[in-house]
Amino acid sequence: MKVSPKQIETVYDQSNAVQHYLSQGRRDGVKVLWEEPFSRSVFNRAIAPLKNQKEKKLRVLDVGSGTGDGYVLLSTLLSEESDLGSSEYLDYLGIDISSQMVETASNLYGNCSNVRFECADIRTRQLQRPFDLYLSCGVPYSHLTHEELYQALKTIVTNVCQNRSQCAVVVDVLGRYSIEWTPKWQESRWDYAMSFFETEGDKEPIWMSFYSQQHLQEIMQQATHAVGCPVEKFTFFDRSIMVGRHTSTGQFNPGLPQYRNLINSLLDPSQETQLSQLIFSVELGSAPKHILEFFRKFSGWWNTLVSDAAELLDKSLAVEPVELPPEVREFKAAASEELQQISEKHLYRQKVEFMLAKVLRQLEATQQPGYGVGHDLFGVMWLDATEI
Ligand SMILES: C[S@@+](CC[C@H](N)C(=O)[O-])C[C@H]1O[C@@H](n2cnc3c(N)ncnc32)[C@H](O)[C@@H]1O
Repeated sequence: MKVSPKQIETVYDQSNAVQHYLSQGRRDGVKVLWEEPFSRSVFNRAIAPLKNQKEKKLRVLDVGSGTGDGYVLLSTLLSEESDLGSSEYLDYLGIDISSQMVETASNLYGNCSNVRFECADIRTRQLQRPFDLYLSCGVPYSHLTHEELYQALKTIVTNVCQNRSQCAVVVDVLGRYSIEWTPKWQESRWDYAMSFFETEGDKEPIWMSFYSQQHLQEIMQQATHAVGCPVEKFTFFDRSIMVGRHTSTGQFNPGLPQYRNLINSLLDPSQETQLSQLIFSVELGSAPKHILEFFRKFSGWWNTLVSDAAELLDKSLAVEPVELPPEVREFKAAASEELQQISEKHLYRQKVEFMLAKVLRQLEATQQPGYGVGHDLFGVMWLDATEI
């Protein structure tokens, strides 16, 4: 099902879409402490090979820039985490199909001479000047059909070749095998606005495309082959395996425990979290073997860490412990040591909950396989057309 430019524009041009993206409620603990650092780490990996160009500005095209989250993530990364230089070294252009998004982003960030937002459809926009980074975040490419994604990537790769440039291309799409939508795992494009609840009435359909690593890589590869552009490397990253927003809306998988809310509760000192609810108990859909195998391993690690935290609070959960990966193996020992410094009971619980949130985030960030098992799947390709 193809979606016309007008349909996408209509979805995002409704003022509540802009309000949604700017609302404080959207910036919950998971977004700030879990998702944004992960996105920045992906962007940091993407620009790492460009770090030898320190004296030059980093030229960025952000596709589907919305209200400017990509710009904020990148400028924070440049000023705080990367050794590439400060945000002044950015030459940033955000494009978005929605004029309201563009207007909002321009009002927020467009007063700097090195930042611009323009209304454009990536499916038809012609590119001329070279960029070092073709960025995307917040899954804009999932609005395109698989064929449209191929064409959009071909436009980018053609631009890279015509300018004989070197760059990184970050393609952010929805992961096909997220626990948020196990009942839809058999399909790679479906109506993302569908409702299970009759009381919600008729919603406008929003057709979105979902990707496994294999499918996304095939499309990226086909686009580079079609243009004859040399690829240095492909890498894939899963973001939000357990904490995608729809774990808490239950919109596409009503039986799912509300993992995102539960992690937010762990991060909120004023709330006491029922750790037993955090246990991975998800009925998986039918999927290729490596996906099911990943969830088998990952759920064992996740549940062992939750059970370790419960034990620190003198509670026992019926979990068969498994051997943990090295990155999180020290959790229980390190937590017990820290707890010895604390005497007050309620601070004890807060500390355990906060440390549990931290180690679960660490588990996701270090064990994500880039298969398309999270809310977001980032595909990154590094292209070098300098010698063609
Ligand atoms: C979920 S929002 C993400 C916005 C922003 N990047 C962020 O991370 O918050 C997806 C954005 O993609 C834009 N978009 C969808 N289809 C597009 C297209 N064909 N060309 C350009 N932008 C598009 C939408 O208007 C919307 O602003």
